[in-house]
Amino acid sequence: MAQLQHFGWFFGRGFGPQGWGRPDYEWNYRWQDPRIYQQSVRELEQAGLDLLIIEDALSLGSPETIDLRVREAYGGPKLDPLLLTPYLFDVTSHIGIAPTINAGAYPPYLAARQFATLQHLSGDRFGINVVTDVKSARHFGLDELAHDAAYDRAEEWLDVVRRLWHSWDEGALVENRATGQYADGSRIGGFHHEGEYFTLDGPLNAVPFDNGDPIIVSPGGSGRGLSFAGGNSDVQLALSPLDVESVKAYRRKVHEAAALRGRRPQDITILFVFKPEIVASEEEVQRVVNASLHPTDDVIRAVLAGQSSDLETDLTVLDLDRPLDPAVFGQHVSQGTIRGLLGGADGFESQTLRELAVRKARKGRIDDGSGFVGTVDQVADFIERLGDEAQNDGFIFSGDLHPVTVHGYLDHLVPALRKRGVLRSEFGNGGVRANLRDF
Ligand SMILES: Cc1cc2nc3c(=O)[nH]c(=O)nc-3n(C[C@H](O)[C@H](O)[C@H](O)COP(=O)(O)O)c2cc1C
Repeated sequence: MAQLQHFGWFFGRGFGPQGWGRPDYEWNYRWQDPRIYQQSVRELEQAGLDLLIIEDALSLGSPETIDLRVREAYGGPKLDPLLLTPYLFDVTSHIGIAPTINAGAYPPYLAARQFATLQHLSGDRFGINVVTDVKSARHFGLDELAHDAAYDRAEEWLDVVRRLWHSWDEGALVENRATGQYADGSRIGGFHHEGEYFTLDGPLNAVPFDNGDPIIVSPGGSGRGLSFAGGNSDVQLALSPLDVESVKAYRRKVHEAAALRGRRPQDITILFVFKPEIVASEEEVQRVVNASLHPTDDVIRAVLAGQSSDLETDLTVLDLDRPLDPAVFGQHVSQGTIRGLLGGADGFESQTLRELAVRKARKGRIDDGSGFVGTVDQVADFIERLGDEAQNDGFIFSGDLHPVTVHGYLDHLVPALRKRGVLRSEFGNGGVRANLRDF
């Protein structure tokens, strides 16, 4: 019997003009209208997915590169995903929803209060995807912290948020109709927190949760990021090669990080980011792979446009046939990010921009491990194999929260996964944490 796995959906470009420039934009959905997301999230729940995560960035980035981000709506505008979540909870009953929250942006008391409210409103289905990006600090009048310091601040922030959530002791909520007593103030602990980054008083004026705290999701993969995950996260989003050995190695790293913080492997569900390209037939697989070896200029341009927004550097205006000079990136992006986004090629500095784009555009077959193009059965086999051979907890698909995208991915994959016994067909009633611990 195959191992059941958990599946989630990463709404990858956040609450913005998703689909801009693509034909399906002509379906006449307004991206500012919650109904497009409500329709999609219902489908995700029906498909048996445990979790929706909504990407976010607080800012249009550095002043010099704003046009790059907005020109094709690649990196903005974005509305606040936290405020979209109640609309999504309203039309669903089981799926968990975790908007991205930058720990530097919300004072802890406000965060604890708003998140507690959403946890109660949703029947224990709320979570936060905690990120530590510091580039938006200037909008908040804050200093830009270094990488690890931003994680330190996020840990202190989360500690205080949790302390606020738990400031009502067991028995504080009485609700005795006979005596007329609602709560026992002597069991509500005030406290004073004075830390490196925050100073505030408790307690919180929210009642305790029925099924535990909102879940914590984390995406950071650095040493400090994994230590944060080990100490705090219910779900780690993993970006890694997807062969059996790499998946096992990543899982080991997260489990070691958890053990160092006194937690157990089963306390963290590790979901690997997965973007398969599902096509109709074996012939189509080979055709798509072959075509990708000789990308058209349009494809090259699209690759460079996407990279330009992520790298905050306009690559589309550079000579395609000259080596890429890393100096074009200025101070905006770290060398590690450049290397990562350009495919991690050794010596990429000596390759022409065209060569880098061609390499980035190259696709491979999922059934021989050279890429992610496959038929439904090949993709389902791949998922099943990682569950059985690498004890994988599950995957997070990534795409727009648009019915066209959701159906394109899931219509045929869901039945194939259910047939293999890899995907749940029902949920319990204990909220998202209970769902994650079902298997
Ligand atoms: C799957 C995934 C999703 C992410 N989502 C966001 C996001 O929505 N907003 C954001 O600011 N950063 C996001 N990040 C970036 C991380 O928060 C983090 O800044 C980055 O991984 C660097 O952290 P690290 O140095 O610990 O790896 C994401 C990263 C990954 C891998």
